[in-house]
Amino acid sequence: MNCLYKLVFLSVILISGCGYAPMFEENTLPANKKLLADGFDLYQEHCSSCHGVAADGEGILAPSLPIKPSDLTDLPLFPAGFIEFKIATGSNTQYMPAWDGTLTKEQIQKIGNYLRSIKQ
Ligand code: HEC
Repeated sequence: MNCLYKLVFLSVILISGCGYAPMFEENTLPANKKLLADGFDLYQEHCSSCHGVAADGEGILAPSLPIKPSDLTDLPLFPAGFIEFKIATGSNTQYMPAWDGTLTKEQIQKIGNYLRSIKQ
């Protein structure tokens, strides 16, 4: 029993060490001008096709999706790091891709800071 306990504990550590997605981690990256500009660029490159250049959910692919991409200028007040978690893991519908693996943790954090900076 004791041994099993240790095994479970070890597996949890191992799994949570693999990639960003399983972790709900607070974004501590500074939101300075340079990093926000990077976030803007990354957003335009990877997200604007669905969520729109202005992040209002009106991307060029939006009309062809059965579910409307969210208006990202008006996200709810998620706990710190939760937007990044959503970006990394995607949604349980297949229409919002998971970006863990495609984007690095730092890139995801830059986009998260950028989205918080444009919140209306
Ligand atoms: C292929 C289209 C597509 C792309 C590309 C895409 N998304 Fe999404 N996204 C969606 C759709 C559709 C939803 C809402 C429905 C859902 O959850 O499935 C969504 C939901 C979200 C949500 C959750 C909003 C909420 O209120 O819970 C966030 C945050 C988000 N996207 C951010 C991003 C970011 C950042 C990128 C770029 C790294 C991105 N998305 C790229 C289609 C896309």
